[in-house]
Amino acid sequence: MERTFVMLKPDAVNRRLLGEIIGRIEKKGLKIVGLKMIMLNDKILDIHYAHHKNKAFFPRLKKFMSSSPVVAMVVEGVDAVEVVRKLCGPTNGREAVPGTIRGDFSMSVQSNLVHASDSKEKAEEEIKRFFKKEEIFNYPLSNEHLVYSKDEING
Ligand code: RTP
Ligand code: MG
Repeated sequence: MERTFVMLKPDAVNRRLLGEIIGRIEKKGLKIVGLKMIMLNDKILDIHYAHHKNKAFFPRLKKFMSSSPVVAMVVEGVDAVEVVRKLCGPTNGREAVPGTIRGDFSMSVQSNLVHASDSKEKAEEEIKRFFKKEEIFNYPLSNEHLVYSKDEING
């Protein structure tokens, strides 16, 4: 099943919104198969935000992302990448519609609470970047048949 990488940013940690955000991911029907708190260093931030390397806000973004621990997660589900991006809403919290995580809790472009992989390829890369194989768990959920129809799970 498809997996995506999700990170709860320092604003989520500091505003005590971890439970709220993780709860939304769980209640949607997605499955958490990896979860840990980590501190991001310069090296990993340079790689993770390489697409913003030449932007004026890059130093500020790095300072923000290393200002406290973050929570890193691997989230599994049918079309998990797209579903989680939709749950988050667009980058700018002021433009995100109510009902999304950013739309309900963020007023900012930078402090937008959550990161989610934007493609299947990126998801694979990011999961490898942040998680060791043994930190990701395969386990059955007894009520999966209530979340999906059989054909949705078996393709
Ligand atoms: P993310 O990667 O965190 O899921 O967010 P995203 O795809 O919606 O946005 P992306 O363009 O990948 O940007 C990554 C993060 O950089 C910060 N940012 N700040 N103008 C700014 O100050 C600015 N632009 C982007 C945000 O924290 C954004 O989520
Ligand atoms: Mg992005």
